[in-house]
Amino acid sequence: MSKSTADIRRAFLDFFAVRDHQKVSSSSLVPGNDPTLLFTNAGMNQFKDVFLGAESRSYNKAVSSQRCVRAGGKHNDLENVGYTARHHTFFEMLGNFSFGDYFKTEAIQYAWAFLTEELGLPKEKLLVTVYHEDDEAYDLWSNIIGLPEEKIIKISTSDNFWSMGDTGPCGPCSEIFYDHGEHIWGGPPGSPEEDGDRFIEIWNLVFMQYNRQSNGEMLPLPKPSIDTGMGLERISAILQNVHSNYEIDIFVNLIDAAADIIGATDKSDKSLRVIADHIRSCSFLICDGVLPSNEGRGYVLRRIIRRAVRHGNKLGATDVFFFKLVNALESQMGEAYPELATNRALIEKVLRTEEEQFSRTLERGLNILNEALADLPSNVVPGELVFRLYDTYGFPADLTNDIAREKELTIDENGFQAAMAEQRKRAQQASQFDTDYNDQLKSDSISEFTGYDLESGTANILELFKSGQLVEQLSPGEEGVVVLDQTPFYAESGGQVGDSGVLKTKAGNFIVKDTVQLNNAIAHKGVAETSISVGDFVDAQFDIESRNSIKLNHSATHLMHEALKQVLGEHVNQKGSLVTPERLRFDFSHFEAATNCELQQVEKLVNEQIRANHSIETKLMNLDDAKAEGAMALFGEKYEEDVRVVSIGTFSLELCGGTHVNQAGDIGLFKIVSESGIASGVRRIEAVTADYALQLTQAHSEQLIDIASLIKSEPNAISGRIQQLIEQSKATEKELDKLKQQLASNAGADLLSQVYEVNNVKVLSANLKGVESKVLRTMVDDLKNQLGSGVVVLGVDQDSKVSLITGVTKDLVTKVKAGELVNYIAQQVGGKGGGRPDMAQAGGSQPENLDIALASVKPWLEAKL
Ligand code: ALA
Repeated sequence: MSKSTADIRRAFLDFFAVRDHQKVSSSSLVPGNDPTLLFTNAGMNQFKDVFLGAESRSYNKAVSSQRCVRAGGKHNDLENVGYTARHHTFFEMLGNFSFGDYFKTEAIQYAWAFLTEELGLPKEKLLVTVYHEDDEAYDLWSNIIGLPEEKIIKISTSDNFWSMGDTGPCGPCSEIFYDHGEHIWGGPPGSPEEDGDRFIEIWNLVFMQYNRQSNGEMLPLPKPSIDTGMGLERISAILQNVHSNYEIDIFVNLIDAAADIIGATDKSDKSLRVIADHIRSCSFLICDGVLPSNEGRGYVLRRIIRRAVRHGNKLGATDVFFFKLVNALESQMGEAYPELATNRALIEKVLRTEEEQFSRTLERGLNILNEALADLPSNVVPGELVFRLYDTYGFPADLTNDIAREKELTIDENGFQAAMAEQRKRAQQASQFDTDYNDQLKSDSISEFTGYDLESGTANILELFKSGQLVEQLSPGEEGVVVLDQTPFYAESGGQVGDSGVLKTKAGNFIVKDTVQLNNAIAHKGVAETSISVGDFVDAQFDIESRNSIKLNHSATHLMHEALKQVLGEHVNQKGSLVTPERLRFDFSHFEAATNCELQQVEKLVNEQIRANHSIETKLMNLDDAKAEGAMALFGEKYEEDVRVVSIGTFSLELCGGTHVNQAGDIGLFKIVSESGIASGVRRIEAVTADYALQLTQAHSEQLIDIASLIKSEPNAISGRIQQLIEQSKATEKELDKLKQQLASNAGADLLSQVYEVNNVKVLSANLKGVESKVLRTMVDDLKNQLGSGVVVLGVDQDSKVSLITGVTKDLVTKVKAGELVNYIAQQVGGKGGGRPDMAQAGGSQPENLDIALASVKPWLEAKL
């Protein structure tokens, strides 16, 4: 009987567990210990430091089933998904590991026993490769396992020397292949036909022996170790007697679910395979804290989601569909990965939002692309078009490429990159300076920043700019830019605004309004009070009060960043930051509004850290060391080799070039002002500290006191009192309505005394002084009822406007039309109207004529009746 994928996963873990291997859970797809790696792509990633000897564990043998993503980074299979039998963006890698315990002999014996005894694969279907210099491995396969010569193939290429990256643990490897049989085209590894599908690699045994340095040198690892990797989907395909990974149980079920949801009938459509693959990577990426965005990991996720949505659209999906597959995925993989259930709501929500957003532009983008493709002079899609689709319609380049590939076209990748570079340049130019007088500044000078320690200092003017031009002198009153050889002024960077202050010369002052970085120079923007010249000495003093406030807010930003991660989750990442003297503004990734309760928790955490009065320390470190210590760095940001690291107790550790207070206690008080959404998946918090926070709470208390006194209550009792007032007001309104109705029916009763007859028909025409026009309809109905048969005409004069209503009982409508009658009267008061034969309404603008008009009812009726 064929084994399910879940059975095989379990069998693997158990096989090694009974052989004293520690079962270790899959680590996150976002590698925790290696920011250079985009996504976890092998089982050994989480053990990298253990192999290197930099970390020790309580066990020296381990087994895992590791979720892996190969999309976007160095190993990128995204574009092949759907086109081949075995490429995935997401897959599971089964692996057993020895950290200095057993080595080649046992690794080979275990693998052989698991495949042939535990899984019962026929020995004659298996063959292996070894690295051409690895005689030891060759002998083991030959002597201990007893494989014949022709089944042990020596390979001299890097295929049989595995390394995680350009640096790090590596070693020769031996791969086990499965022969799917003669009926499938392909040759054994190393042969010219090796790319065929007949001989499929299933398990890679890596004999970890070296640590590759960046200069290529191979240093021996502290202890020879073992790292193995077997693709779960591949081994399942073999055991389930299918050739393509997409035919194994998990995929068949996901494809069924997708076909059902979309309403697709052809289950072999490759778009269904793409969708089934993509729901796995997308769900697990979101589960591991990645959210769709325009950069880094978030952008890879966005690309995969959009690719899935496009394939759904191709299959004829008429509604959002992708998120509906999370349910099916949970049924398939939820037992092995309980985190799927825990994060299900989040995953569904993120997928749904992203799909809804993209669907709005997908159709239009596709039309534009298809039109352009119809007139294409060659079989290359121009880079400019790829860029336009990306920029305006949110088509990632690989999505356009996917479409092009279906039509046997290619895209001009270089042209696209050039258009992207062009756009980046435009964006930089737009954001660099906000005023026109220093637009195209270029400085070759180098300024030393002294302001981490000093508040002022003498310096020499190296350059002056006026209206974007280098000048020798600025005259009194002129705006310009001053570059100094050294300065304590902080140039705007990392969200912290530039310093303001004054540059004092013997003759007078240059008032600095802002400070920015110009290549390696620090540029002071402002206005000269007296004339200043290149070569002058100045005493540079930044505004200390403003800088102190900035420092408070910058340190508070770090505390809040960490607090947000703790309260909302590890997926929170900085998307933007602004630190000014008055407040801090922080944009971060999060998929929905933070609740009041969450915001209060963040405030509480930050204020606890402030009261703990941690010392805030800065040190210069090597970038790798800083990352190894877990310093938060912005993803996608380029850092120098030596970085400045700011720590606040053990609570926060961030790479940062900004200025900070010495003790967290200086911040005094931290208070959030607002939380809002600024883009899909990006939230913004504004907050204040110290005096500003005190002022904010004081202003709030004052408002409370004002409100309390207005409603005659106490600040701590106002909600109860307001509730009471609302209820009172509701009761009063009800009472008022009742009274109005009563008034109207009283008035109606009085009116009956004014009824007269015209040719035996009862008629009432009255001016209802003081009655609100909105009760007229009810009154007419009441009066008609009371008359039984008759004609009613009512008019009121309210706010200098006339409202008229006429009512005719049903028995009389053949003779008198309410509409005609109301029109006849309305004309006399400057208006017109209309309505049904039994009731009609009109307005007018001449109240002074109302009585005469009403009097004309009688003669008019006499003529009709
Ligand atoms: N780390 C090895 C691989 O990924 C097992 O193939």
